[in-house]
Amino acid sequence: MPASASRSVPGGGALARVSEHGIVPTAAPESRTADAYLRLSAHLLLESERKDVRTIGVISAVPGEGKTTAAINLVACLGRARGRNGRVLLVDGDGRKRTLSRLMADGAAGPRTQAMLVATSLEGVDFLSAPAAEDSPTIHSPAAWSETLGALAARYPQVVVDCPAVLDDAEGVVLRECVDALVVVVRAGSTTRGMLRRAVGRAADRVAGVIVNGAPAAQAAPVGATL
Ligand SMILES: Nc1ncnc2c1ncn2[C@@H]1O[C@H](COP(=O)(O)OP(=O)(O)OP(=O)(O)O)[C@@H](O)[C@H]1O
Ligand SMILES: [Mg+2]
Repeated sequence: MPASASRSVPGGGALARVSEHGIVPTAAPESRTADAYLRLSAHLLLESERKDVRTIGVISAVPGEGKTTAAINLVACLGRARGRNGRVLLVDGDGRKRTLSRLMADGAAGPRTQAMLVATSLEGVDFLSAPAAEDSPTIHSPAAWSETLGALAARYPQVVVDCPAVLDDAEGVVLRECVDALVVVVRAGSTTRGMLRRAVGRAADRVAGVIVNGAPAAQAAPVGATL
């Protein structure tokens, strides 16, 4: 994925399209969820000050656990928190599915084969799309991701990467090793301990937070409460 790309504002409504897709369920989040994301954002901002944590990968064990949704919510909170201190960047690291790229960067002409850096309608948030593969799927090397993320982190105080599911796509394993910190998304009642352990691998010391989707309200601890 090239580190430099054209910068343009997508023809309004990118957020509305995301919302229509069901990824951002509501513009008025339930307060416990909103509070949890704010806590996690606060923790990541503190980590950023203390340990120079700039690149944050949102991972899960298997597909469909809510990574893309979590990445948008997280970057929205970070973008608002940074305010005048600089914009933050959301990166589509899932080059096979390209969920965010399809919604926020592809045009009427179809999938874009070049990565695009665009401003979004989220406050303080830019977005880097994943190029559509021209031939058979491949993976980027750790060196390629490290170089790209290093270049992006030099421009953005926080870079949130929407990663593929680690047990489903080898690129997820590569990305897990190339980011400074990890946010792990699990689905209550379906993600097992074994899946979680394999998804995190040897990166447990870089896990900055865990988001549990689908937990009954009475059982759920606020995300980030123990951080
Ligand atoms: N907290 C949540 N509450 C309700 N629905 C959710 C929540 N998080 C995600 N979803 C829904 O679950 C579905 C999958 O979410 P999402 O696309 O974010 O998962 P994903 O982990 O990125 O999937 P994939 O691995 O396929 O990329 C979407 O329809 C999304 O709207
Ligand atoms: Mg996704």
